[in-house]
Amino acid sequence: MPDLWQDAMDHAVTLARKAGEIVRDALQNDLKIMCKSSSVDLVTKTDQNVEQLIITSVKEKFPGHSFIGEESVAAGEPCVLTENPTWIVDPVDGTTNFVHGYPFVAISIGFAVNKMLEFGVVYSCIEDKMYTARKGKGAFCNGQPLQVSDQKEINQSIIATEFGSNRDPDAVDKILSSMRKILCLPVHGIRGVGSAAINMCLVASGCVEAYYEIGIHCWDVAAAAVIVSEAGGVLMDVEGGRMDLMSRRVLAANNNLIGERIIKEIEAFSAVRDDEP
Ligand code: IPD
Repeated sequence: MPDLWQDAMDHAVTLARKAGEIVRDALQNDLKIMCKSSSVDLVTKTDQNVEQLIITSVKEKFPGHSFIGEESVAAGEPCVLTENPTWIVDPVDGTTNFVHGYPFVAISIGFAVNKMLEFGVVYSCIEDKMYTARKGKGAFCNGQPLQVSDQKEINQSIIATEFGSNRDPDAVDKILSSMRKILCLPVHGIRGVGSAAINMCLVASGCVEAYYEIGIHCWDVAAAAVIVSEAGGVLMDVEGGRMDLMSRRVLAANNNLIGERIIKEIEAFSAVRDDEP
């Protein structure tokens, strides 16, 4: 049976590579940095230009498709996932890293049909690692198959998480308290590369057992969610149950055992949903 969405996925890979070139070039030049919701929620001209490039090209090639993009939503476009084929795009995941030249920056392109994720492309463009996954067909990095770690012991695990851009003291207390509890389980270590998409690809690659965060957006995790599940991993909400793409909460783990063990230590809180009008 022909694969309906392979053409779209091939196009996503081409666009991610092109976007990666723009991001790498921009690193050599002066970056024009602007703030969005707060002084730690950054955006650059490159984020906006890359998103524009992707939207224009997708609209030309797939005129009937819908689009949810980080910068379009910031500019006032709605963030609603319908049944229509929808591209969910973060043009620069790890904008703070990008601004500081910290070398983990990704272009993240997820694609959903009937509200189900069909493929994901995450290009970690400074490392030149192209992560791809198509539902039911496995996950790859630069063409090599990915497999999550088979670790079942939490105290032999590395857990990734991030502080994100929330500086509300109550939220920061909960984030720190969760980290403290997880660290003291004990685990081998806590990491975080400053890009939700790359953190999740590290779970898919088997070098990190789990990643969780509250405050991410659907464009940070849509593509990598397919990569994690196709590498054999699981996706959950930070309080258990299924991951809800619009809830701004994610837990990606190598298996249920590790995921559920971490959930016991997370002090969960809510964030304003992505699809809240
Ligand atoms: C951010 C990164 C970061 C995570 C934030 C995200 P952006 O995405 O993924 O690692 O902690 O929650 O918003 O703003 O650089 O696209």
